[in-house]
Amino acid sequence: MNPSGTIEVENFSLCYSDKPAVKDVNLRFPERKITAVMGPSGCGKSTLLRSINRMNDLIAGVKTRGKILFDGENIYDSGADIYRLRRRIGMVFQKPNPFPMTIFDNIAYGIRIHKLAKGAELSRRVESALSAVNLLDEVSDRLNRSAMELSGGQQQRLCIARALAAEPEVLLLDEPTSALDPISADKIECLLQEFVGKLTVIIVTHNVAQAARVAEYSGFMMLGEMVDFGPTKELFTNPKNRLTECYLNGKFG
Ligand SMILES: Nc1ncnc2c1ncn2[C@@H]1O[C@H](COP(=O)(O)OP(=O)(O)OP(=O)(O)O)[C@@H](O)[C@H]1O
Ligand SMILES: [Mg+2]
Repeated sequence: MNPSGTIEVENFSLCYSDKPAVKDVNLRFPERKITAVMGPSGCGKSTLLRSINRMNDLIAGVKTRGKILFDGENIYDSGADIYRLRRRIGMVFQKPNPFPMTIFDNIAYGIRIHKLAKGAELSRRVESALSAVNLLDEVSDRLNRSAMELSGGQQQRLCIARALAAEPEVLLLDEPTSALDPISADKIECLLQEFVGKLTVIIVTHNVAQAARVAEYSGFMMLGEMVDFGPTKELFTNPKNRLTECYLNGKFG
């Protein structure tokens, strides 16, 4: 049996109407480790990431081929439970998107809709998620104030806490720090290290130095293909593909 949090992509392709965006990708994201996905703008990173919890289903005209196996089961099988899938695979976007409600209600949102807890246990889980992203001390006196009042960096940690509160096994992060100042970005990078061994984390980043700092594994995409994948150290010191080398050296992208 596969260990929990395993994502295996098998001959996976995705087209928007007739335009291919992901082409025949094959790889296994190592479970409970951090993997970075890099590549120039428009190469399909976000599309691949969104495919992992079927967020592309919401876009008209999307066609997929191949499989994405989560703990051995194809998430594209007709009987797959998407609701449950999205609880087990959380996602955080580039731009912080707190819901227009209180800090408490943002974090409680997933716990409530998935009926994971209520009452004192709900409050305990909300505090624990805020504490896991090192935000509790900054907001403990204003849990009932609107989340829209937080700074951008705080909002992004809130969004990570909201995803964590549903107790996912996988966390997908699409350029989570690119809209943030360096200190807020650093806080999030430090936080990601705490997830190693607990969650499978896949982070899309344009920041090569960030991938080197946070990710044990890295992949490089180009025109919809995953042209390189492996331990980050190997990818940086000995890339298999010349295009990876050019990108890492800042020659395009
Ligand atoms: N909703 C959509 N409808 C049609 N085409 C799309 C849609 N989203 C993305 N695409 C196209 O698919 C390709 C891959 O886009 P994607 O957003 O996955 O790239 P990306 O690598 O994340 O780029 P960036 O680094 O700029 O975020 C691009 O050519 C893009 O124009
Ligand atoms: Mg993108």
